[in-house]
Amino acid sequence: MGLFGRSKAKPLSPAQQHRMKNLLPSLALGSGKLSPKQLWPQAQQVWVEIGIGGGEHFVYQASENPNIHLIGFEPFQNGMAKTLGAVERLQLQNVSLEMTDARDVLARFEDHSIDRMFILYPDPWPKRRHWKRRLIEPFFIAELSRLMKPGAQTRFVSDIAHYQQWALWHFLRHPDFEWQAQTCSDWQKAPADHCTTKYEQKAFREKRHPAYLHFIRKGL
Ligand SMILES: C[S@@+](CC[C@H](N)C(=O)[O-])C[C@H]1O[C@@H](n2cnc3c(N)ncnc32)[C@H](O)[C@@H]1O
Repeated sequence: MGLFGRSKAKPLSPAQQHRMKNLLPSLALGSGKLSPKQLWPQAQQVWVEIGIGGGEHFVYQASENPNIHLIGFEPFQNGMAKTLGAVERLQLQNVSLEMTDARDVLARFEDHSIDRMFILYPDPWPKRRHWKRRLIEPFFIAELSRLMKPGAQTRFVSDIAHYQQWALWHFLRHPDFEWQAQTCSDWQKAPADHCTTKYEQKAFREKRHPAYLHFIRKGL
């Protein structure tokens, strides 16, 4: 099974298949270098979510922030199908979606072109021999430093204690990032603009405690 392999993939309904074939390509980013300023000149900011899962948080942010352009990445087709259903139902006009590894597309973005990044419950890869598969690693942090505007925020959320510490360590050893927390409640409590997801609800039911970590890209 590959990095994004899923044993529990469910067959798509005819309506979902139709959206995958017709709606998804209309929301794609296109090829070549990507310049958010040129692509969405009307948008106040451009936000990215990596691994949108079933799209609950992504759709919430897009509908709450019509002046922001949101880009979502999710290689798992059932998650993408669910997100497309909500995008169609709510007639969202301010979104782009790609069913692929976010890193491949983000590599084509202009330097310092992203205003906000959400990484919510990335796959934790709990076994030591799999830690190298984690999204958060030195090369990716360097890529985030290249992509984020000065002052831009990355929100990282995980319910796995080892990944929380891992993320803190990796961000803080990079000179371009600083952690925003002043008090415990800053990282223990969900921020006011957070929207819970199915995955987060499962973590609560299983008595795991998420950490909401915010990292700011320092000035150039
Ligand atoms: C544990 S789920 C969490 C989903 C969602 N963020 C939530 O909170 O409900 C992690 C998701 O990240 C996706 N993912 C993992 N690596 C990714 C990558 N490199 N690019 C885009 N998505 C990725 C997986 O397919 C999976 O759906």
